[in-house]
Amino acid sequence: MQHRDTETDRCCRMLLGDVFPNFEADSTFGRMKLHDFLRDSWGVLFSHPGDFTPVCTTELGRAAQLSPEFSKRNVKLMALSVDSLQEHHDWSKDIMAYNNTEPGSQFPFPIIADDRRELVEKLGMLDPEEKDHNGMPLSARCVFVIGPDKKLKLSILYPATTGRNFDEILRVIDSLQLTAHNRVATPVDWRPGNSVMVPPRIPETEAAMLFPAGVYTKDLPSGKKYLNQEAKSSQLRF
Ligand code: BEZ
Repeated sequence: MQHRDTETDRCCRMLLGDVFPNFEADSTFGRMKLHDFLRDSWGVLFSHPGDFTPVCTTELGRAAQLSPEFSKRNVKLMALSVDSLQEHHDWSKDIMAYNNTEPGSQFPFPIIADDRRELVEKLGMLDPEEKDHNGMPLSARCVFVIGPDKKLKLSILYPATTGRNFDEILRVIDSLQLTAHNRVATPVDWRPGNSVMVPPRIPETEAAMLFPAGVYTKDLPSGKKYLNQEAKSSQLRF
C-alpha cells in the first residue's frame, strides 16, 4: 500500500505495524478523526469505487447485515469513496431498501466523503483501470484492518470489478484477535473452534504448556518436525 507523506510529498509504503494516519474527514456520522472515532476498538476502513453502482450496493448491503457481528468483536466499520456526503446519504437509503430494511432506519456505520480525493491518494486506494466520467481513477476495493493500538494489522486490495467477501473479513478478524492474545497461528480456512497451529520457533516445552491436550506432529518426507497442530481444539481467549 502506498501513501503520500503530506509534509514532504514523498511516497511512503504503509506496512503492517505502521500507525495508521489519524486523518480527519466528513462522514455520514459527522466530522470524524480516525483515532478518536476508534478509541479502544478495532477498525475496518474499506473503500468502494462509487455510490449508486451495483457491486458496491451488494457489498455495503452485506456489510450492513453483518454489522452486529463486527460490533460483537469490538470492530467499527467505516466505508469510503470519492463521492459527496449528500450522495452517501441518498445512496445509503437505496442500500437499506436493497436489504429490505425497515424504511427510516439509520445506516449502521459511517460512509466517508472523500470527494477531494485526499485520502484515496494518500492511502493508495485507487484503481487505475477504472475511471469516472472525467477520466479520473475510481477508488479500488481496499480493506484496512486497524488494531486498538491504531496500527495496521491487515490490508487487502481488490480491483473495482471484483466484489469482496465480508464473511472472510470477519474470519480474518477472528484470527487477528486470537493471535493478538495467544502465541498461535491459524491454518488455511481456519474458523473459530477449529484447532490452531504452533508457530515456528516455539520450543517444544512451551508448546506442551500452551496445549495441555497435546500437539500432533505430521511426519513429512523432509524429516523436519515443523507441522505441529494442537491435537484437540482448546478454548483460547480472543
Ligand atoms: C460496481 O460497483 O458495480 C462497479 C463499480 C466500478 C466498476 C465496476 C463495477
